Order: sequence, then C-alpha cells, then structure tokens
Amino acid sequence: MADGFRLPFAVVVLVLLGSQETRTEQELRFQPVPRQRPVRLFTELELARYDGQEEGQPIYIAVKGVVFDVTSGKEFYGKGAPYNVLVGKDSTRGIAKMSLDPVDLTHDTMGLTTEELQSLDETFNNVYKAKYPIVGYTAQRILSEDGSPNPNFKPEDQPHFSIKDEF
Ligand code: HEM
Repeated sequence: MADGFRLPFAVVVLVLLGSQETRTEQELRFQPVPRQRPVRLFTELELARYDGQEEGQPIYIAVKGVVFDVTSGKEFYGKGAPYNVLVGKDSTRGIAKMSLDPVDLTHDTMGLTTEELQSLDETFNNVYKAKYPIVGYTAQRILSEDGSPNPNFKPEDQPHFSIKDEF
C-alpha cells in the first residue's frame, strides 16, 4: 500500500517540477530584457577625441579607469571651462590631488597619500558615479600594451576598485 502510493506521488512531484521549469523558461523567454547601456574599452587615443574641444560632441573623462560621459557638465568641462584640462584622458591623479597641473593628469596613483586616495574615492562616488553615466573603461586598465589581457589585472587586489559597484 505504501509503495503503491509512493510511485504516483513521485510522478506528480516530477510533473509539477517539470511544468514549473517550463513556466520559468517561458517567463524568461517573454520577459523584456532590461536595456543596459553597452560599455566599451577606450584606448588613450580614442579617449582623447572626447576632450570637449569640438562643439556638440560628447565629453568624456576617465577616473580610476572608468570612463564617464560628463557632457551634461559642459560648464565645468567644455571648451574654455575651468576643468577642461581634465577631460579626454584618465585624470585620476589630478582628481585625487585636486590639481590641474599637467603632470598630475594621469591614471598613475603611485605615492598618493591616504587622504588623497580617500578624497579620490569620495569624488569618484559622490560626483562622477552619482552624476554621470559610465560609457566604458580604459583599455590601459585591463589590457597590456600589446592588447593581450593584462595578467596583473586583478580587480579583487585593487583596494580602490570595486567592480561590482561600477556595472
Ligand atoms: C580656487 C580653486 C577652486 C574653486 C573655487 C573651485 C570651485 C568649485 C565649484 C564651485 C564647484 C561646483 C560645485 C557644484 O556646484 O557642484 C567645483 C566642482 C569641482 N571642482 Fe573645483 N574649484 C577649485 C579648484 C579645483 C581644482 C584645482 C580641481 C582639480 C581637479 C577641481 C575639481 C573639481 C571637480 C572635479 C568638480 C566637480 C565637477 C562636476 O560636478 O562634474 N576644483 N569646484
């Protein structure tokens, strides 16, 4: 009696599980896929085109290797604006040091103080991530000079880089 009950019960469970799976598959198939803005890699040369010099063209800045579209901040970054020197490149060091000195307009964070790194993260989070869309990443951050994947690039080893926050 017990065995006679167990078999049909198992069949019912399997049928239920099977139909549930089908429903989930169908839901997945017909669910509209949320539109995600595609992001791309920028070489230094490509990024340099978005330096705000050409009227009507997008303006990009990279901070910590993340490329932001700062066109809506034209009053800061456009041609002749006070922070125009920061755009069309990775200006991480300048942002960290609050410096517009050309030697600081680089991705290089070597030798920055704890305070400067903290200030960098604050501006990164509270200005750039909060105000501007991400359009890509600098190739230099992820690839070696010959274009092959940079074996030393390990997001988890970089204290000032949180990949899950950025996508
Ligand atoms: C006399 C010196 C400076 C003054 C008076 C000044 C003033 C300001 C003001 C009023 C804002 C706008 C705040 C807002 O309404 O959102 C601002 C934003 C900003 N400043 Fe300065 N600033 C100075 C120097 C610098 C320097 C040397 C840097 C170098 C990196 C810098 C980087 C920035 C950045 C990145 C923003 C954010 C722009 C944005 O919202 O996209 N500032 N500054």
